[in-house]
Amino acid sequence: MKKQIALVKGDGIGPEVVNEGVNILKTIAEYTDYEFDFTEAPMGGEIWKKCGESLPQTSLEMMKQSDAILFGAVGLPDIPQGVAEKAILKVRQDLDLYVNLRPVKLYPSLHDMCPLKPEIVEDGINISIFRENTESVYAQIGGIVNQETAVNSMVYTRKGVSRIIEYAYEFVSKNRLDELISVDKANVLIVSQFWRQIFQSIGKNYPKIKQTNYYVDAFCQWLIRKPSSIHTVVTENMFGDIVSDEAAYLVGSLGMGASGNINPTGVSMYEPIHGSAPDITGQGIANPIGTILSLKLMFEESFRDTHVGVAIDKAVESALESMRTTDIYSKYAQNKVNIQRGNCREMGSSVAEQLKSILKN
Ligand code: IPM
Ligand code: MG
Repeated sequence: MKKQIALVKGDGIGPEVVNEGVNILKTIAEYTDYEFDFTEAPMGGEIWKKCGESLPQTSLEMMKQSDAILFGAVGLPDIPQGVAEKAILKVRQDLDLYVNLRPVKLYPSLHDMCPLKPEIVEDGINISIFRENTESVYAQIGGIVNQETAVNSMVYTRKGVSRIIEYAYEFVSKNRLDELISVDKANVLIVSQFWRQIFQSIGKNYPKIKQTNYYVDAFCQWLIRKPSSIHTVVTENMFGDIVSDEAAYLVGSLGMGASGNINPTGVSMYEPIHGSAPDITGQGIANPIGTILSLKLMFEESFRDTHVGVAIDKAVESALESMRTTDIYSKYAQNKVNIQRGNCREMGSSVAEQLKSILKN
């Protein structure tokens, strides 16, 4: 199977982690019938400095023509605020990437990295957050009214709300889970009341799935009070932005977080959630696992291949038993002779080694 992958290395630690992602894809190509062709699509702050555009049209075209996009990070401290962000939002809009899937999983060997008390997480953490990715305040409708007033409108459409909620119900159904949690602010916002009605009406098609509603403020509490009881969450764009950062930290480091910006019938973009991390750029110590786990989502969502998806997950789990990058290298790890501290390259290679032995069998 030939797959064209557009690489958006971007800024900061983006290129370092994408290179490890490419290594993983090459490993997969060696042991399966996948063949990957790579094209590089410049985007972000560095390219903006060179040509005045953070998303050149040629890059967007390359992305549109690929089978999937692997994205590193964009953003630099010395460019104006909004330049890099605008590029990300444009890709989400132009490719209609309306599902933002953000899984949060605490790997058994990383329990010491969880900021919550051990008794709270003894049953593990395994959450899939489905964030609507094209509407709400991200539709960028609003502006400066006058010197004293600025407005952003929270825009929801029936089509936009229905399609993300349907996607989340389908996920729960396919994975034989029993509950879908919807997060809104229906005690205050009219748009949330609209959302909730749609959530309940689509739920009628899934009578076996329990529908649960949380207000976003209460949900933020539950996320740290009882994370083991939460499995699938669907929410609107801005709430999803906020709760997914909170959730990501429960597993120890933003460096572990993966995401998929998905168009279920088009080209999707997979990205680690950590951002460009200017403070550690060039040191080679970035954690490549967020990127590698984003590839897991690429196989599962774009290539409908859970076999390789599960293999990547297992490879990460095994690699973490004997190696950690700096961001997840705790006191606990220091005291264990069998846990080595590795840099970005070493961590990536360690996952690749594990993956080889899994795919061989
Ligand atoms: C994210 C980021 C983006 C967002 C920014 C960089 C535009 O925070 O992907 O969560 O707000 O969606
Ligand atoms: Mg965010």
